[in-house]
Amino acid sequence: MKTLVVYDSLYGNTAQVAEAIGAAVAGESQVLRIGEAKPSELGSFELVIVGAPTQGGRPTEAMRAFLARVPALEGVKVAVFDTRLRAKWVKVFGYAAGKITERMESLGATLVTEPEGFIVEGKKGPLGGGELERAGAWAKDLRPD
Ligand SMILES: Cc1cc2nc3c(=O)[nH]c(=O)nc-3n(C[C@H](O)[C@H](O)[C@H](O)COP(=O)(O)O)c2cc1C
Repeated sequence: MKTLVVYDSLYGNTAQVAEAIGAAVAGESQVLRIGEAKPSELGSFELVIVGAPTQGGRPTEAMRAFLARVPALEGVKVAVFDTRLRAKWVKVFGYAAGKITERMESLGATLVTEPEGFIVEGKKGPLGGGELERAGAWAKDLRPD
């Protein structure tokens, strides 16, 4: 299985989660920051995992710009994650993963699991205790079928 993990990260926390996911996922994987990935190459992977920090209830501007340039993904299997604060009040704005999921589904991609959020303890991090392990466990079971 060939998997692409494509992510954005301002302070490095989402990058750590993306690397943990890339290391845990079955088969061959490539982990790329959005600046390194071509929007047109997503369709050539069996599974595409997209992740971004939640900023203002949605993905970073760079991730939104990237996703706006991704062509149709009919038949492509995807999984989506974000990083987010634990605080209850942020919930009202929503999270990056939900918005990324909407975009991927509008492109025709099929979600293989529910979007997942990983906790940061503050704006700059660090990640919550056990979150890298939880990211690995989430990724280990992902399959394109
Ligand atoms: C401008 C800005 C807005 C943010 N807005 C939210 C938000 O609406 N909800 C939330 O849960 N976290 C919010 N955060 C916290 C981010 O989720 C956190 O900075 C991010 O998960 C860290 O990941 P990174 O190290 O990969 O950048 C915000 C952070 C920044 C810098």
